[in-house]
Amino acid sequence: MHAQVAIIGAGPAGMFLAHLLREAAIDAVVLELRSREYVTARVRAGVLEQTTVDLMRRLGIGARVAREGLVHAGTTLAVDGDAFHVDFAELANGASITVYGQSEVMKDLNQAADERHIHVIYEACDVRPDGLDTDAPSVTWNSPHGTHRLDCDFIVGCDGFHGVSRGCIPCDALTIFERIFPFGWLGVLAEVPPCNHELVYANHERGFALASMRSATRSRYYLQCSLQDRVEDWSDDAFWNEFALRIGETFASRVTRGVTFEKSIAPLRSFVCAPMRWGRLFLAGDAAHIVPPTGAKGLNLAVADVVVLAKALAGFYAAGSRDGIDGYSDRALARVWKAERFSWWLTNLTHRFPHMDGFDRQMQLAELAYLRSSRAARSAFAENYVGLPLEE
Ligand code: FAD
Ligand code: PHB
Repeated sequence: MHAQVAIIGAGPAGMFLAHLLREAAIDAVVLELRSREYVTARVRAGVLEQTTVDLMRRLGIGARVAREGLVHAGTTLAVDGDAFHVDFAELANGASITVYGQSEVMKDLNQAADERHIHVIYEACDVRPDGLDTDAPSVTWNSPHGTHRLDCDFIVGCDGFHGVSRGCIPCDALTIFERIFPFGWLGVLAEVPPCNHELVYANHERGFALASMRSATRSRYYLQCSLQDRVEDWSDDAFWNEFALRIGETFASRVTRGVTFEKSIAPLRSFVCAPMRWGRLFLAGDAAHIVPPTGAKGLNLAVADVVVLAKALAGFYAAGSRDGIDGYSDRALARVWKAERFSWWLTNLTHRFPHMDGFDRQMQLAELAYLRSSRAARSAFAENYVGLPLEE
């Protein structure tokens, strides 16, 4: 087989890229380890920046998010139960975010991929990129029918944090920057109306809590938890009791308890690998960088990367220009580092750290009080939360 571009991974980065390349008439094949059902069902991100929603519309996959997405013009921060509002509309030029689950985004991407005959190969095992430092790279993989090979001009690793692509780059060609946080997030879904019409981020002495949602009847709630905790340690009662405590009285009184499902624990990590290119291999999305979920940036960053990369590849194929592909890593990383900073800052501001002393706690409280009282500080929060401009 031959294609101009081989994309490894059919998550948000890989599928957005496949659509962008199709728009630019570049021939691509996507290779995915898992089944389509598995990729679609994963419950992960919930907040889309305006630029992500705009891109969905431009690609002709924006009808359902426009209809069903919940547009939020602000968010609430709560400190030991005492809440204040940050108004994006007022502070960030009318900007908003849209609450729409990653699994819904994947359904929209996949359905349009079928209609456009975008070639996605699921359950491709043992994917091996090769010849990355030559002009003729290739990818091989196994299926129940045998071993296959795809010759291509470029390979894009969109295979997430645990994928195979990043590991193909020699160690001495990469710099890794990493911060592992000493706690995780326990997330649940429940078929109950959300306790607030917008998201609530709560800093509580006992730890962080987040009230999010997927629809007017489905809540998505998170609790900071220990990395030693297992999902089975948290009964529904234990979850709801702790959530009510941390989210504070005003919202606790509006929490509807119910059976929780899709209960999972995710570790929190900041990670950047630089550069995001080696030879004919490009990295995009979680394959190159991870943010703690506090800033709701991961999926949006993956989208921002592939917008820059698709433009670079379009420049290469249409005009023979190498400027875009040579500048991809620097351009993408410039935005990545800003989102890393915001996600790290918000995590530090809202979570309880082991060995935190009275001084550390007072610093958090003072910074939250400053946010509450200063329009300039709230504007900086709002500008970052709704998403910085795309640097195409
Ligand atoms: P992935 O989604 O990880 O996709 C990679 C794909 O590659 C997968 O389908 C995988 O199966 C495949 N793959 C892996 N290895 C191989 C291989 N060897 N061969 C072939 N295929 C392979 N982000 C936000 O923007 N907003 C949020 O509100 C938000 N909330 C989050 C909440 C939680 C609890 C978590 C865990 C994450 C959240 N994120 C959020 C982050 C977001 O989900 C990720 O950043 C996003 O999925 C990254 O997309 P990706 O395509 O780069 O990687
Ligand atoms: C979610 O709805 O899953 C969600 C929302 C906001 C975040 C993280 C996750 O910061």
